[in-house]
Amino acid sequence: MIGARKDDHLRICLEQDVQSGTTGFEAYTLESTALPECDLHEIDLSTTFLGQALKAPLLISSMTGGSSWGATLNMRLAHAAHTHGIAMGVGSQRIALECAKLEDTFKIARKIAPHSVLFANLGAVQLNYGRGIEDCLHCVDMIEAQALILHFNALQEALQPEGNTNFKGLLKKLETLCGKLSAPVIAKEVGSGFSAKDARRLVDAGVAAIDVAGAGGTSWSIVEGYRSSPIAVGTVFRTWGIPTARSLALVHAEAPDMPLIASGGIRSGKDIAKSLALGASLAGIALPFLQAAAVSDEALEQYLESLLKNLKIVMFCIGAQSISDLAQITCSRNDFLYIK
Ligand SMILES: Cc1cc2nc3c(=O)[nH]c(=O)nc-3n(C[C@H](O)[C@H](O)[C@H](O)COP(=O)(O)O)c2cc1C
Repeated sequence: MIGARKDDHLRICLEQDVQSGTTGFEAYTLESTALPECDLHEIDLSTTFLGQALKAPLLISSMTGGSSWGATLNMRLAHAAHTHGIAMGVGSQRIALECAKLEDTFKIARKIAPHSVLFANLGAVQLNYGRGIEDCLHCVDMIEAQALILHFNALQEALQPEGNTNFKGLLKKLETLCGKLSAPVIAKEVGSGFSAKDARRLVDAGVAAIDVAGAGGTSWSIVEGYRSSPIAVGTVFRTWGIPTARSLALVHAEAPDMPLIASGGIRSGKDIAKSLALGASLAGIALPFLQAAAVSDEALEQYLESLLKNLKIVMFCIGAQSISDLAQITCSRNDFLYIK
């Protein structure tokens, strides 16, 4: 049943226009320089996240597993992560907790990318539906993950006919989990973003990092709308949520020392550069990776090469030779455009 739902999600995301709203990055400008004082060919994208070395500040956001289609996609995505030294999240492993024979559809990622930074994934709400620390540990061990992503998807659950909507008392359970799990816990939304108040509560609960996963990219109300009742979801909630750039700014202001991932509608090197200039350590991308992986390894390779080249050109044009330079770059709001 979950397997069918997961394949529905993949199919809908590939066949329909499931993106909505704006990320808010268009309201920011990176200051161009005519004097970069660096060589484009020497731009260095390498960085670290939660103590792990990466060749670029990029995460293939959590998407799939649990079916043979999911396994094929995880294989291709893991190959890209391995080749380019970027991080990758697998999709929710709940399905493998329910049916052990599906574990291989997730394990394939570690097999293909033995040395890559991989993140396990589970819905936080599952802590209210019979899942506990042992299950979280099992998800981490399944793919020998460097961290566990716990996703918070209140809107998505509310829109699913079969959704798990009891989010009561989750913070306390999260706090216990963060204290006991041997792996770091990353709190992630799925397209509605975190507020400043959310960020404070997550910091207090002890998470190691936050993935804002804001609005402006894949909209789960549109996706769920195609699965169930188009009127309720497709229209009313399609632009729901805190746009990614705003969520990033709010969370960074509230928790300046917290490692952050910017995701939700990140589509270009410019978006990645703006994310890092605004306080993120990594940028996460889901849908475009899925679209490329659904075609072939070659399509994925082409997409990733062009994205990273694009990022290097942006960095060159703002005079940032390294990822640490990028954090110091001016990224200002375009408010002057509105001054009369
Ligand atoms: C097909 C698909 C499946 C997804 N499944 C998960 C999931 O299992 N767990 C999760 O945390 N996020 C999941 N997401 C959400 C993405 O990780 C990401 O937060 C969201 O799609 C926004 O990024 P984007 O605009 O680049 O697509 C999924 C996204 C897609 C497109």
